[in-house]
Amino acid sequence: MKEDKLVSQEEILLQKEYMQKVKSRKGDGTQYAFVDTYGCQQNEADSEILRGMLIEMGYTLTKSEEEADVIVINTCAVREHAEMRVLGNVGQLVHTKDKKPNQIIAICGCMVQQGHMVEKIKKSYHHVNLVFGTHALYRFPELLFRVMTGKKRVFELIDSDGRIFEDMPVYRENSTKAWVSIMYGCNNFCSYCIVPYVRGRERSRRPEMIISEITKLIENGARDVTLLGQNVNSYGKDLDENIDFAELLERINAIPGEFKIRFMTSHPKDATERLFKTMAKCEKVAHHIHLPFQSGSNRILKLMNRGYTREKYAELIKCARTYMPDISFTSDVIVGFPGESNEDFDETISLVEDIGFDALFTFIYSKRKGTPAAEMEDPTTREEKGQRFDRLLKVQSKIAEKYAEELLGKTVRVLIENDEGGDVYNLVARTDTNRPIRLTGCSELVGKFVNAKIEVCSKWSMEGRIVD
Ligand code: SAH
Ligand code: SF4
Ligand code: F3S
Repeated sequence: MKEDKLVSQEEILLQKEYMQKVKSRKGDGTQYAFVDTYGCQQNEADSEILRGMLIEMGYTLTKSEEEADVIVINTCAVREHAEMRVLGNVGQLVHTKDKKPNQIIAICGCMVQQGHMVEKIKKSYHHVNLVFGTHALYRFPELLFRVMTGKKRVFELIDSDGRIFEDMPVYRENSTKAWVSIMYGCNNFCSYCIVPYVRGRERSRRPEMIISEITKLIENGARDVTLLGQNVNSYGKDLDENIDFAELLERINAIPGEFKIRFMTSHPKDATERLFKTMAKCEKVAHHIHLPFQSGSNRILKLMNRGYTREKYAELIKCARTYMPDISFTSDVIVGFPGESNEDFDETISLVEDIGFDALFTFIYSKRKGTPAAEMEDPTTREEKGQRFDRLLKVQSKIAEKYAEELLGKTVRVLIENDEGGDVYNLVARTDTNRPIRLTGCSELVGKFVNAKIEVCSKWSMEGRIVD
């Protein structure tokens, strides 16, 4: 990686100084901070850094907007619905701020990496004190200090390809499961997607930083590590050393201890036989892959700029199953991309039937300002798109029911993630293939791998009994 992509040690130290400045300015009394997150796991991971910084600055975390002295809303821009939810909730904060006039309200993340959104907040949301885009995340302490000491609202929007920062505090609520970002940004520019515009270009963390973070996590009790990136399997392409995602998996697999390795999201264009071979070989890597196909129609895939065909996708699935017969697949689908015809949509349905996904995340196309698809003709009505969407859900639901029937009575190895309390089915565990299952047992079992017999199984949930 070129040095200029890494935030320098001096810049990090400066932010650490600001953390201390905020801490002393704030005084000794307990003050609360609330971080609310929208969007993908990568945003969740960013929020864990925001929380880590807030704790370092002397705040106590809360989940109550009324109690909070500082509220940070980490936003998503991927669909209009996500943005509407954020704006709706930010609007409501007028009332909490009325009762607590010194409350600081900050908005960060993908939504406010767009100029038109920053303008909107400037004009119509006067109770918001601080707005900063994705590229300014590591500068949160400095920006917060500026809000505390100045009289003006602070808006920080930098246009950048993005950089990487290391060595910032992270607060993880659950010590068993950990998200670890291994790369940021996206170079793919799928024609419907806003992510490359708000997250910058692909950049990978150095392998030794990733290995040392995961080693520490495992030493501290983590048993399930999910590697994150918008395009996780293109890891390493921008680094000056010879390493790809498969090699990184091998190195992580070699870290001592019993734990699971997961990753998301993979792009079909970068999924290779080598990756599947490595997954099969590395005993800690879960046999599950989230591999979004988006559409089953080659015409639409081309318009989407996805870089593969339906045939290539089916081949990949077949190849993965050759190496790992028990592998499970999940995927994302967009319904109603501009110009999608009934015939195109039939192709999506047939692909879903052919492959047999464990679960699907289905989205109705949402127009994103500044993307090429926003300029395409979109004659299909909302109602028609809704009908297609329902049809897809029904097809997938049948498949999920079939899988559920097959699982009933089987014994599977699971990791117990959490004790949610209660007399029965208090434990939440997860199968290798990333499905949640509820079990009964004591809280000492959290963080342990056990064998569980599946006794109740529907397409939504599973319940079972610990058998060892
Ligand atoms: N990088 C990942 C996913 C990023 S966004 C990937 O390429 O797979 C998560 C999902 O949101 C996408 O897979 C896609 O299905 C959906 N999505 C992205 N942009 C969208 C849009 N404009 N309208 C509807 N769904 C969208
Ligand atoms: Fe968006 Fe495509 Fe990049 Fe995924 S690969 S983040 S869908 S542009
Ligand atoms: Fe949303 Fe940004 Fe993730 S747009 S999906 S939070 S990368």
